[in-house]
Amino acid sequence: MNTLNWSELTFGFIPTDYNVRCTYKDGRWGHLEVSSDPFISVHMAATSLHYGQEAFEGLKAFMGKDGKIRVFRPDENAKRLQHTCDGIMMPKLPEELFIEAVKKAVMMNKRFVPPYGTGASLYIRPLLIGTSPQVGVKPSNEYLFLIFVTPVGPYFKEGFKPTPMVILRQYDRAAPLGTGTYKVGGNYAAGLLPGEKAHAMGYSAVLYLDAKEKKYIDECGPANFFGIRENTYITPESTSILPSITNKSLMQLAQDMGMKVEKRRVPVEELSTFEEAGACGTAAVISPIERIDDLDANVSYSFSKNGEAGPVCTKLYHKLRAIQYGDEPDVYHWNLIVE
Ligand SMILES: Cc1ncc(COP(=O)(O)O)c(C=O)c1O
Repeated sequence: MNTLNWSELTFGFIPTDYNVRCTYKDGRWGHLEVSSDPFISVHMAATSLHYGQEAFEGLKAFMGKDGKIRVFRPDENAKRLQHTCDGIMMPKLPEELFIEAVKKAVMMNKRFVPPYGTGASLYIRPLLIGTSPQVGVKPSNEYLFLIFVTPVGPYFKEGFKPTPMVILRQYDRAAPLGTGTYKVGGNYAAGLLPGEKAHAMGYSAVLYLDAKEKKYIDECGPANFFGIRENTYITPESTSILPSITNKSLMQLAQDMGMKVEKRRVPVEELSTFEEAGACGTAAVISPIERIDDLDANVSYSFSKNGEAGPVCTKLYHKLRAIQYGDEPDVYHWNLIVE
């Protein structure tokens, strides 16, 4: 354990001591249980395996200079999981149970919370799966909810640097009125092929357009998109993107900094008017975008001068990170302190 080099950790999986679990049976959620077994035993006919009845979440815990562990906005993840539950017919996990499970998973694995100053954090992964055996396509009667945690390294090892992204018009991640607003595994399966293609071509992510008209911006791989123009923070409104908790937080901070915030449909051509652009999510907070190549339209949009992140992206990034690590006042009470 003492051999873990916190700053060198990747976004991989490092085993930790415990996970917490809770089952749903006979129409009720049971009690939280703690397990040290990283394996789960699942029936081969479980609905999660065949019909994708599974949902997950992702959030982080940060060690502060004051020695306190802060979890960023877990109540929002609890609500988003409930939204996903409604979408794919799973019983809603009560918010209090979700929060209790997060606290327990962090406390039981306290020794894996990376020290302040390393830029690393503890990633928290809640998972909810249908477990009843059946071959008919219908919702499961029984479910397993679990949370595991794993330490992850700083996202930007070589500094906060912009990367290029690509529009691949022959692929969609999610359909309007489909499952895009839910955090279900199927959306990520749909993104694997375009994502790997983009990486092979040297891009960090795919920027998806709306699947129906291919006119408007949806989101960037596993992150929301935003553009900055004339002191305005502009982010897409869409029925096929995941409502990002980071984006919601950045919209608030942008407003507090005196910026105008617009959440609306964003036509792809509008990219040419942005002074800065970024992808936002739990993993990186903000991943500044260097340029976006629309390969089929043979157009390229550039946002970064001399390979550096723009001033607004940089300011927002440092502000949100400072709140998460407890370096700046948490005026909206976003952090849950786990003791
Ligand atoms: C598809 C998708 N969009 C956006 C996000 C960003 O959401 P959040 O800020 O809540 O991490 C994520 C990651 O969680 C994601 O998987």
